Amino acid sequence: MMQKTVVLVKPDGLQRGLVGKIISRFEEKGLKLAGIKMVQMSDVMIDTWYAHHKEKSFFNDLKEFMEWTPIVAMVWEGLEVIPAVRKIVGSTKGREAEAGSIRGDFGMSGSQNLIHASDSPEAAEKEMGIIFNADEIFDYQSGMDCLVYGKEDLANK
Ligand code: CMP
Repeated sequence: MMQKTVVLVKPDGLQRGLVGKIISRFEEKGLKLAGIKMVQMSDVMIDTWYAHHKEKSFFNDLKEFMEWTPIVAMVWEGLEVIPAVRKIVGSTKGREAEAGSIRGDFGMSGSQNLIHASDSPEAAEKEMGIIFNADEIFDYQSGMDCLVYGKEDLANK
């Protein structure tokens, strides 16, 4: 199934100059960029975004971290892209994340972990709504899809 997922380059990724490298990973994978913008997260946005972490001991630290600088938000589209992107991102803690993943290659921390990616279609919908207006998510024909996907992939999209 064709899906959209929301990726954020968190403040540590921006500060470390990893925005270009992170975008390249998704471009090189063959994903289609449907939206991109720089955003300063607010308390209200973080309360909604991380509502499921609200009771956690690290919630205030997480909020402060996510508001430290602007973030770079993107929407990437592709076949079953939500789990595919989670693999590219790697597990939460950089020092335990798989080599080859973004967190595995570029980070050591479990909090300053460079990047966010939606973990379900419901989360992706919610996160797109928090960051993007409808006219900031683009539907266009990707010239690369016929190279990236085979007939059998496109048959069940
Ligand atoms: P992510 O898994 O994308 O979403 C929840 C985020 O909370 C996580 O990335 C980290 O950035 C942050 N986080 C998780 N655990 C901790 C922790 N123990 N202390 C501070 N931040 C954390």
